[in-house]
Amino acid sequence: MHPLVNIAVRAARRAGNVILRNLNRVDALTVVEKGRNDFVTEVDRAAEAEIIATVQRSYPTHGFLAEESGSTSPDAEYVWIVDPLDGTTNFLHGFPQFCVSMAAQYRGKIEHAVVYDPWRQEIFTASRGDGAYLDGRRIRVTKAKTLEGTLIGTGFPYRENLHYLDPYLAMFRAVSMKAAGLRRPGSAALDLAYVAAGRTDGFWELGLSPWDTAAGWLLIQEAGGMVGTLTGGEYQLGPHVVAGGPKVYEALIAEIAPHLTDELRR
Ligand code: IPD
Ligand code: CA
Ligand code: CA
Repeated sequence: MHPLVNIAVRAARRAGNVILRNLNRVDALTVVEKGRNDFVTEVDRAAEAEIIATVQRSYPTHGFLAEESGSTSPDAEYVWIVDPLDGTTNFLHGFPQFCVSMAAQYRGKIEHAVVYDPWRQEIFTASRGDGAYLDGRRIRVTKAKTLEGTLIGTGFPYRENLHYLDPYLAMFRAVSMKAAGLRRPGSAALDLAYVAAGRTDGFWELGLSPWDTAAGWLLIQEAGGMVGTLTGGEYQLGPHVVAGGPKVYEALIAEIAPHLTDELRR
C-alpha cells in the first residue's frame, strides 16, 4: 500500500470513530432541532480536524480542500479533497449509510483515494495505476452490457438543487423503465465506491461537490469503470456525474441526454 494511502486509511478510521461515537448521542438530542444541527456540525468539524491533524503530522506541507474548513494551501503539490462525513442526513437519523471520503491530488491530478464506511468497517482504496480494493481485495465494476437487469444508484436533488427536479424526474423515469432497480442510499461517495465494487452497475446524480466525488472517481477508474459528465464528457470534479461499467455508463448517458436543460449540458 502506498504510504499516502496508509496515512489516509489511518485518518479515515479516526474520523470514522468520531462519527460512530457521536451516532450514539444523536438519539438523545433528536428533540432539539437547533442543537441537533449544531451537534452534527460539531461531528463534521471534529472528524475533519482529526483527518487534517493526522495527515499534517506526517505531511506538514500538504494542502486541503475540505468541506467544513475550505481550502488551505491550494498551491501545495499535494492537496487532499476531504468529506469528513458524507451522508449527514442519514447520520442524523441513525440510518447506517455514511462514510468518510479522502482523495489526494498531486499537481492537480487525483492519485490516491480512500472511502471508509465506519458502520460496516469497510475500506475502499485506490492508487492510480494500481487498481481498486475493498479491505485489501481487488474490486471491479460489473460487466453488464445494457441497463436490463441492472441495479443503479442515484441521488435525488434536494436543497439548493431542487430546481433540477423536473429534468431529474424525467431521467429517473427513463432509467427506471429499463433497469431492474434504482437505489438512493444517500452518501454519494459511498454510492460511487459501490459502483467500483460492483454492488451497483452504475450511478448518476446532479449537483454534487468535489469532496463527494473525488475519491469515488479514482476508485471507479481503477476498477475498470467510467466517470463522466451528463453529456459523456471528461469528468473534472464538476457537479453532475454519471458513472458505471463502460457499457452501463454509455447506456445511462443515452437515457439521460434527451432530458438535459442548457444548464445541465454545461
Ligand atoms: C450529501 C450526500 C448525498 C448527496 C448530497 C450530498 P453530505 O453529502 O452525498 O448523498 O445527495 O448531494 O451533499 O452533505 O451528507 O456530506
Ligand atoms: Ca458530501
Ligand atoms: Ca459532508
